Amino acid sequence: MNLKAYIAHHRARVDDALDALLPTAETPPANLHKAMRHSIFAGGKRLRPILCLVTAEGLGETGDTALPAACALEMLHTFTLIHDDLPCMDDDDLRRGKPTCHKVYGEAVAVLAGDALHALSFELLCDLPDKNSYSTGDFVRELAVASGGQNIVAGQVLDLEGEGRDLTYNQLRNIHERKTASLLACSLRFGAMLGGANRDQLEALTAFGWNLGLAFQVIDDILDTTQTSEMLGKTAGKDEAVGKATYPAILGLEASRDEARELTATAKNALKKFGTEAGRLHEIADYMLDRDY
Ligand code: IPE
Ligand code: IPE
Ligand code: MG
Ligand code: MG
Ligand code: MG
Repeated sequence: MNLKAYIAHHRARVDDALDALLPTAETPPANLHKAMRHSIFAGGKRLRPILCLVTAEGLGETGDTALPAACALEMLHTFTLIHDDLPCMDDDDLRRGKPTCHKVYGEAVAVLAGDALHALSFELLCDLPDKNSYSTGDFVRELAVASGGQNIVAGQVLDLEGEGRDLTYNQLRNIHERKTASLLACSLRFGAMLGGANRDQLEALTAFGWNLGLAFQVIDDILDTTQTSEMLGKTAGKDEAVGKATYPAILGLEASRDEARELTATAKNALKKFGTEAGRLHEIADYMLDRDY
């Protein structure tokens, strides 16, 4: 299967599983569940769940066992997007090609839809079967650490505090690692754990995830300046308009592109102990580097 078809196949599996795992739009309180579904099904590349599934599959876990954890990653991610778009944060009107959650359902319901997605992501992990040497508690801890006050939340705070300020390269890199790379690394680790990875394999896949995740946010910054809102499904040019600390703002566009290439190469290099079982991860890393939305 070529990569495009392979990604589309996994995306469809994730979409079906999300549909089955989320309360229906009619479940009371209907407004809450409509809001959750609005943001989840607005679109989205589903990269985090796909990375989880592909990693597990590379290690031999080819069934549906990894799907609930993959969906937990997408729910957690969507929760961060709903909150990221709020007027008190990035104040965005457009997300995944649709009006943002708070534009349709109001701020209070948007905050609460995010809260419910956050809680549901952890509930899903509690129902995972214990797999090899990894317990339910291990999965819950991984997601709690990746999304908590030392990672996503920290990154988001530092990102907002950095608006209009001159940050150093190291400060900027730290923000991007916290707010974005942490969940990408968690996606790889979930896949590895579900595939029964040994310690060495888990370490290698973690290194791949952190570098890939950092490259991912560098590219997000680049696309914000080079693409149209229509292409991105979110408001382009927003970072510069509000004085966000971004890679293009600090390094310039060309050096940012070099940085993304280098990070992707470092990520791929971390996989050298694997053979063909990591072939799809190499392909996805290249695809993520070349993406235009
Ligand atoms: C957007 O993530 C937020 C970042 C961390 C850069 P994605 O680019 O994965 O957004 P969706 O899920 O495809 O909408
Ligand atoms: C978002 O970073 C990171 C999280 C949501 C955790 P951005 O603010 O750059 O994401 P976009 O550009 O709005 O998607
Ligand atoms: Mg933001
Ligand atoms: Mg934003
Ligand atoms: Mg951005």
